Parts: sequence; structure tokens; C-alpha cells
Amino acid sequence: MTQKQLDKSAAFLRGKGFEAPEIGIVLGTGLGRMVAEIEQQTVAHYHNIPYFPLATVEFHSGKLIYGEIAGKKVVVMQGRFHLYEGYEFKDITYPIRVMRELGIKKLLISNAAGAINLGFKKGDLMLIDDHINLQGGSPLAFKNVAEFGERFVDMSKPYDSDLCKALETAADEEDIVLRKGVYASVVGPQLETRAEYRMLKTLGADAVGMSTVPEVIVANHLKLPVAAVSVLTDECDPDNLEPINVAEILEIAAAAEPRLVKLFKKVIAAM
Ligand code: HPA
Repeated sequence: MTQKQLDKSAAFLRGKGFEAPEIGIVLGTGLGRMVAEIEQQTVAHYHNIPYFPLATVEFHSGKLIYGEIAGKKVVVMQGRFHLYEGYEFKDITYPIRVMRELGIKKLLISNAAGAINLGFKKGDLMLIDDHINLQGGSPLAFKNVAEFGERFVDMSKPYDSDLCKALETAADEEDIVLRKGVYASVVGPQLETRAEYRMLKTLGADAVGMSTVPEVIVANHLKLPVAAVSVLTDECDPDNLEPINVAEILEIAAAAEPRLVKLFKKVIAAM
């Protein structure tokens, strides 16, 4: 990755009208309907953006959408890149750097995750309060990282307090249950074994998923305030574990999505 590549990606998008977005949003698996809330949309497909990786999982349509939500200029990633698709850490976080290059001041992330904390139920939303990186690498472990910021990035408070508070206030006001907890990231794409779910619980994770942590690390590298919300799509009870049902995961995500949209919209309006 070079600054020139980032400049070219950003210049291409500016040429399409992606002018001065204030907020970046990453939509997780099964959480694409937020796009309907964007007014005056301009769309750029990932495969047309110079130096962008390509989305491969079929339920991601893979596009960057610029427009307005609650009067604020936003740039939204519909479909993200995952390690399990064969990308490298640097690839999956490239779009975050491009959105920063375009000018975003804040980043909101969503994902689908499994509930390790059995006090939480499928369909619940969870504010990510902290994380555990179990993906075996870092998006900052490359030679010329110092050209883009610090090498030894502080992670004592990876999620922005003000954004988190705003999400909690919005949840309160809208009577939406918003759990709070630790998200552990794994590579996937296989789901976890019973022994792994027990391990994750022992480690202090409340939820597990295959994304978000690399993006949050890069947001911290960029000193970009970030908050993230998980939609808990399955309950990871090692003593009563049922086989994975992807259709059900997508169904639960879809059912929870209106609440997530409400929260994000409210927080964006209040920015
Ligand atoms: N594990 C990992 N990723 C997930 C899960 C899970 O149980 N549910 C949704 N994404």
C-alpha cells in the first residue's frame, strides 16, 4: 500500500461526487438495508474503484454509497472484506483508509456475531466495549506503516467514549435493548467448536465474529473515532450447540436490523 494508491482511490471517488463525507459506516453481513435510509445516493462498485479489493461472498453486493442520512454527508460500505475470503489484513482495511482520505471524522461499524455471553439472546444488539484480536495478525504489521501513522498504536480505549455514549443514549430513548461487551474476532469461515466456545468464554469474550477488529485497529491508527454494534445472531452454548444455520443467522440479522438503523440514524442526527 502506498499513499499514491490511496490518493488515486480517493480522487476517483471525489470525481464521482464523494465530496467531504463526515461519517463512514460499515454494514455487516445481512445488514444492508440501512442503504434505503441514504438520500441522494451516489454509488461506486468496489470493482471500479482503483486499488480496491473485490468482494466475493454473494450476499455482499460490494459497493460504496455516498449520500445523506439525517442531513449529514455519509459514505457507506455495503459489504466488507473478510480474511476468510483470502484477503490480507491490509486489503480488508484499505477502504477505511480511503474513507478517511475522503475526510470522514467518525466511523460506525456493524456486524453479525455469535453470543458467547448466554445472558444475551439472539436478536439482541451489543455495543462493543472492547475486543480480543484472535485473528493471528495485525493490519499494522507491514514495512512502511510509519508512513501512515504510528507503529505502536495505543489500544487502551479503542472505542470512542462519546460515540458509545451517544449510542447508549439513543438506545435508551428508543427503548432498544443494547447489551455491552467484549467482541472476539476469529478468522473463520468455519464456526467454532464447543471447546472453542468454552475457551472464548474463559477469555472474557461476550461475542464472537469474523470481522471488525482489523477495521477498528486501523481507525485507531488513523485517530478516527469509532464505535461498533454487533447483532447477535446465534447463541453459542457449548452444552446445547446446534448445527449452524446460515439462513437463520441472516433472518435474525434482518429482524434486528430496523433497531440498528434507528440507533445509527439517531446518533448521526445528533452529531
Ligand atoms: N461465530 C463466529 N462468527 C459468527 C457467529 C459465530 O457463532 N455468528 C455470527 N457470526
